[in-house]
Amino acid sequence: MKNLEDLINIKLSRRKVLKTVAVAIISTSIPFNLRAGHNALDSEPKIILNNNSDLFFKPIPPSDKDELILPEGFKYDIIRMWGDMINDEEIYGINNDFVAYFPINGSSEDGLLVVNHEYPSPLLSGNYTDEDWVNKKIKTNEQILKERKSVGISVFRVKKNEDGWKFINDGNFNKRYDANSEIILTGKASSSSEIKNSSLARGTVANCSGGVTPWNTYLSGEENFQDYAGENYYRWDDNGEKFIEEHYGWVVEVNPFDKNSKAKKRTSLGRFRHENVCIALTDDNRVVAYMGDDKVNECVYKFISKNKFESVMDGFNSDLLDEGNLYVADFESGKWHLLDYETQSVLKNNFNSQADVLVNCDKASKMVGGTECNRPEDIEINPIDRNVYIAFTNNSSKKDYFGSIVCIKEKGNNYESLEFEWDVLITGGEESGISSPDNLTFDNKGNLWALTDISTGSLNKGRQEPFKNNSVFMIPTEGKNKGKAFRFATGPIECEVCGGSFTPDGTTMFLSIQHPGENSPSLENLTSHWPNGGNDIPRSAVVAITGFK
Ligand code: FEO
Ligand code: CA
Ligand code: CA
Ligand code: CA
Repeated sequence: MKNLEDLINIKLSRRKVLKTVAVAIISTSIPFNLRAGHNALDSEPKIILNNNSDLFFKPIPPSDKDELILPEGFKYDIIRMWGDMINDEEIYGINNDFVAYFPINGSSEDGLLVVNHEYPSPLLSGNYTDEDWVNKKIKTNEQILKERKSVGISVFRVKKNEDGWKFINDGNFNKRYDANSEIILTGKASSSSEIKNSSLARGTVANCSGGVTPWNTYLSGEENFQDYAGENYYRWDDNGEKFIEEHYGWVVEVNPFDKNSKAKKRTSLGRFRHENVCIALTDDNRVVAYMGDDKVNECVYKFISKNKFESVMDGFNSDLLDEGNLYVADFESGKWHLLDYETQSVLKNNFNSQADVLVNCDKASKMVGGTECNRPEDIEINPIDRNVYIAFTNNSSKKDYFGSIVCIKEKGNNYESLEFEWDVLITGGEESGISSPDNLTFDNKGNLWALTDISTGSLNKGRQEPFKNNSVFMIPTEGKNKGKAFRFATGPIECEVCGGSFTPDGTTMFLSIQHPGENSPSLENLTSHWPNGGNDIPRSAVVAITGFK
């Protein structure tokens, strides 16, 4: 069985043959869009700065400065940063990632922002250093409690006036879900022995990207949940109660408009390193959730609900994500394979129940033919061509250092189809100018926006040197610029740029700047001071970018 990197290379070499034939026939030179840079270390950096006079912004060059830089004519307002309050009692979390804007009464100037906080910073919240890890120094209960309160999800109101976007301290909405909140486990694995017979989890962690439902709720993917248990990095069970690993790695649903509601972990969507959720509706209004497992050589999934979405349904009570079928993508045959214990004999022979399959999706997926992929990150649907776009960030085990973005076309353009075709929109590398796409979002003209996450340890050196700091790119999906990456923003030192969410009128983009100064060894030796400058600690922040027409 071929992995995704083999299949991408087959597609690209076919494309090269076709273009060589075309060149021979029309005797003109056509630039190849081949996966570049497997030999990037051997060549001089020659990064392309794509530019085009008919774009609505002038693309900017790469930067290694400790600044958020935007093209001329655009500006940003910082709405909340690590350490700000979210209401009278609770603090805005650290390491903000996915951000979604929920309009109030359809407004593009008044709404709720919901933001994920991916992981704690022991240094910035509790002055617990890497040296302390090396010396196996135990964290205090106070340090662990601070870390628990720094992660999860923030909900708060924002408004735009003539000065720009502002945070609003609105007691009707503003709320935190953190690693201490009581969260309900729903769906097929709830209360099963595989999750310790529990229907309640303590908190949510590792909230990376996510999605928005047609019934106006927020979905959050619990990604690197493995970092908290036992001897793993954060070691939250050293002092307090045990960290129950099976209670994490799920999709969490939050209703931002009902402050009194509890969040729910939807176990029927499977447990893995959930990057995101992208929701679509089938032709008969059933709900489809596209999801990626962001781990080297793991898979892409989709869930199709049993019941139909009806617009009269009351948001959170719909529970549509609890009943349905889960499938895994096979890119070799272009098929979605069912992960069902009752009907798949290979699953019946290797697992105890459907709950067991759901808790261990990574093992079950390959048994039914799922393709090993190059770390699937965000997935988004193009509002114009209706196709499904997936960012594969990189996979060093297959020598894919720069990633790619792939487009899936479901058969008949119906999201319930179990057959699909796919192609490569862009491959990362010096020739395309982009490396390690992670978050994706579409504007309402069908332009894809790709936000990069070159890992902090690789930034600005070796084969990643030409790309400099992590950046935001606009990639047209149609026309003469199709598949070209135009740099729109560059972030401060050692940050990842995350989120990317437009208001309905397309005039504002919300962006998260995550982990500036991530490799700072101590509070006395900080590598970034963004955004406050001076001697301040680096602070993750969510910003509103305006200037879009
Ligand atoms: Fe948290 Fe896969 O990025
Ligand atoms: Ca991500
Ligand atoms: Ca997205
Ligand atoms: Ca990431």
